Amino acid sequence: MATSNQALTTDHQAELERLRTEVDTLRQQLKHSQRLASVGTMAAMVAHEFNNILTPVVNYAQIARANPSLMAKALDRAASGGQRATEICQALLGFAGDQPPAPQTVHLQELVADTLAAMAREPAKDRIDLALAIPEGTTLVTRRVELQQILLNLLLNARTAVLAKDGPRKIEISALPQGESLLIRVSDTGVGIRPENLEKIFEPFFTTKAVGGEGSGLGLAICREIAHDLGGQIEVQSTPGVGTTFAVQLPLHAAA
Ligand SMILES: Nc1ncnc2c1ncn2[C@@H]1O[C@H](COP(=O)(O)OP(=O)(O)O)[C@@H](O)[C@H]1O
Ligand SMILES: [Mg+2]
Repeated sequence: MATSNQALTTDHQAELERLRTEVDTLRQQLKHSQRLASVGTMAAMVAHEFNNILTPVVNYAQIARANPSLMAKALDRAASGGQRATEICQALLGFAGDQPPAPQTVHLQELVADTLAAMAREPAKDRIDLALAIPEGTTLVTRRVELQQILLNLLLNARTAVLAKDGPRKIEISALPQGESLLIRVSDTGVGIRPENLEKIFEPFFTTKAVGGEGSGLGLAICREIAHDLGGQIEVQSTPGVGTTFAVQLPLHAAA
């Protein structure tokens, strides 16, 4: 009897272990899919920006053909436009790909700059005042691409929120060390969130955006999942008509 009970337990344990591994794999796949979905969201911004880069390049090339004295200027244009296009592509590819599983040292200023490059569209072009308050040399040991996924989701949401409102458009990203943690805040002066929606926004598939278009309702659910995985948390404060602040608290050293 004892033997068969034991056998059952061992079987159960093996089954439980198998299910755990399966859930872990599915979680990783979900995060990766959501990253690819945000790349999709950004495609329109990237296409627009590439158009802005390529139009002067083509125009200058045509002018230079007719007027060889402008050749040097045309080449300068092509080189700097090409450089910016390459940076956008690299930022996007780095974000879309798989990531090393182990936490690594991340320079927050660089990561934010990369994230903004991946968004391609310069905030000033939409009259968005983007303020960065990240102390020089701020680093943390964490999974880089996952932290970038949080930032990107928060920034895309903040962008939509400020574009949907008249008046000054401001987005601020700040970082503040707190003991063994880092507190990263993304604030906006956008439309805000109604109190009855504040807890729902973290639920998978909750969205107030056009489904099939920009909204999947997965962004913040993934942000919360990643923040917990990295040993931290994410919270929101919002006043309708005034703006919203997301606060992400992460350990300076994420567990491997
Ligand atoms: N910065 C913000 N300002 C106002 N509303 C927001 C903001 N961020 C998120 N929301 C609200 O939370 C909802 C869920 O966000 P999210 O999970 O990213 O999904 P999605 O962006 O696809 O709708 C949004 O549809 C929106 O109503
Ligand atoms: Mg979103």
